[in-house]
Amino acid sequence: MATNKVDILLGLQWGDEGKGKIVDVLTPRYDIVARFQGGPNAGHTLEFNGTKHVLHTIPSGIFHPNVINLVGNGVVIDPKVFAQEISKLTAKGVDVKSRLYISRKAHLILPTHRLLDAASEAEKGKSKIGSTLKGIGPAYMDKTGRNGLRIGDIFTPDFRARYDALVQKHKRLLSMYNFEYQLEEHEAEWMEGIEWLRGLTMVDSEHFINKALDAGKRILAEGAQGSLLDIDFGSYPFVTSSNTIAAGACTGLGIAPNRIGRVFGIFKAYCTRVGSGPFPTELHDTTGEEMRRVGNEFGSTTGRARRCGWIDLPALRYACMINGVTELFMMKADVLSIFRTIRACTHYDTTEGRMDYLPYDLEALDVQPVYADLEGWNRDLTAMREDQDIPQALMDYITFLEDQLDLPIRYVSVGPDRTQTIERTATA
Ligand code: GDP
Ligand code: IMO
Ligand code: MG
Repeated sequence: MATNKVDILLGLQWGDEGKGKIVDVLTPRYDIVARFQGGPNAGHTLEFNGTKHVLHTIPSGIFHPNVINLVGNGVVIDPKVFAQEISKLTAKGVDVKSRLYISRKAHLILPTHRLLDAASEAEKGKSKIGSTLKGIGPAYMDKTGRNGLRIGDIFTPDFRARYDALVQKHKRLLSMYNFEYQLEEHEAEWMEGIEWLRGLTMVDSEHFINKALDAGKRILAEGAQGSLLDIDFGSYPFVTSSNTIAAGACTGLGIAPNRIGRVFGIFKAYCTRVGSGPFPTELHDTTGEEMRRVGNEFGSTTGRARRCGWIDLPALRYACMINGVTELFMMKADVLSIFRTIRACTHYDTTEGRMDYLPYDLEALDVQPVYADLEGWNRDLTAMREDQDIPQALMDYITFLEDQLDLPIRYVSVGPDRTQTIERTATA
């Protein structure tokens, strides 16, 4: 019996932890990289040879020849964004067609899903989610509401009629909002995207993955967003509309839970969030501004400024538990080099007393972070590549976090480039 397992790499915070960079770093160890949820709300950044690349729907293993990149059934695809991504990569000389497979069961984001996303956010006003406006929520609503269109449907003779029927339904919904829109132009580009999709390799991801496992292939599942944006376990309602946690890889690809292997939890040495919702350790002062400036904390998808704050250990502990994380990857340690003191929130003071876990409603309990202060390293880390290069103060921070989270930190990232990564061989 095959003993091969699927490893999962996912974000433990509110997204943008640096997942894309690490998938790219780890890809040479795998045969298949597979996205299992989310869609073009994701922006995964990779940097190598002095060039930066941002991926939205395409898995972050695409730059490596001989690796299959699979878009699983749990992903929602906007053909227009997808076609743009493919043409950008093709222009860079990447042979996308031979490396990219798509699940027939992945759902389509229609132009009207984007309009509904925008209309819903506009109506919410101040209490808006801060959605990326890519149509994610409405597309998953149609999926679970059993109205959606799937990639496999684009090959059916009545596809256009089914598309039109769903659009009519969306138009009726849009008429309930006081929202002006223009659809025709988007529709034409979307239909062009459908033509692109027709030329790609379609698979049933569940069969594809399980067969590959039986054949001894090594598979890495790439998460999008972060655990605190999970539809069930995130800071609801300020979340995305999919299961971003490890369990999402089972449903989003068609893998049984007993075929999950290692779970790589990616986190920043501090914390960021883009969009609305609670963020207990958020800094509204010059320290937060410095983090944003030095960390270049602006959204990869929307360009929005990311909110910044110190690391939140109760939230991270929760994320490690819910995902069954087996090892940790700490990102952007270099960004903290500017600070004399590094703060880490170990628990919260709330109206119901001290807590070291995420309460049901962060806002209602007036959650106040309680910090441990650690000495900063005040040293440029960006040229460091080996375990032994790590300065003592950073090592103390790493050890502190490992103790608090009861998990090993296997990698420390010290810059955006592929090479700016320290694999901690001493802990392996
Ligand atoms: P993802 O969505 O999790 O893939 O993360 P994003 O790409 O949205 O955001 C991470 C940002 O941090 C990108 O601009 C990366 O190039 C950058 N980055 C990743 N790792 C590091 C690091 O260790 N140091 C610094 N300074 N930047 C990093
Ligand atoms: P990656 O994969 C950070 C946030 C949005 C908003 C909320 C809901 O790059 O880490 P949605 O468009 O999904 O309806 O937005 O989730 N969000 C992300 N924040 N990184 C992401 O992806 C995100 N994808 C969605 O800002 O608050
Ligand atoms: Mg991102």
